[in-house]
Amino acid sequence: MPKSLPGLSIRPMTANDLDDVLEIERQSFPKPWTRGMFESELRNPVSFANALKAEFEGRETLVAYIIYWVIHGEAHILNIAVDPRFRRRGAADLILGTALEQMRRNLVYEVFLEVRRSNAAARELYGKFGFRESFERKNYYGDEDAIVMSLAFDEYGEEYE
Ligand SMILES: CC(C)(COP(=O)(O)OP(=O)(O)OC[C@H]1O[C@@H](n2cnc3c(N)ncnc32)[C@H](O)[C@@H]1OP(=O)(O)O)[C@@H](O)C(=O)NCCC(=O)NCCS
Repeated sequence: MPKSLPGLSIRPMTANDLDDVLEIERQSFPKPWTRGMFESELRNPVSFANALKAEFEGRETLVAYIIYWVIHGEAHILNIAVDPRFRRRGAADLILGTALEQMRRNLVYEVFLEVRRSNAAARELYGKFGFRESFERKNYYGDEDAIVMSLAFDEYGEEYE
């Protein structure tokens, strides 16, 4: 349970969330997604986009978001970020854990993602959920390699050991 984040909710992202999402995106990535990229995910039928909100200073505030695709039982996590003001309070744990539950319910058997080699926080996060480092994509980001991580579920939705 996130520490000191009251009034938590996780709901599908909408166009009304995009100003806040873009603010977090720009603070989170060296090559941030554009508004058009988020808009196209909101229209994409294979894309799931969730926003985690909490009450902060008397207002409902967007804290974190995640975007993933589900295609023929495979999921691909494309984006996850937490507002820097609210990091290390369990928001990523909650939004990623919830997304993995949704994937199991949608009969996903394997989840993939790419992560920058230097992104120790994200690699730790995925490792905590059982993701394994599968292989590298050289120069995937133009300025850095990606590590491809994967997590497999068995027919009962449990992780493979
Ligand atoms: C990676 C990120 C999403 C983590 O969000 P967060 O809300 O701070 O993470 P949580 O508080 O839920 O922590 C969950 C786990 O992640 C890992 N973790 C998070 N931040 C970490 C850090 N700075 N150093 C090491 N491990 C870290 C830990 O395993 C942690 O579990 P623990 O609290 O039991 O130790 C956040 O740092 C972020 O938005 N970074 C910029 C965007 C990004 O890199 N996204 C991933 C792209 S692949």
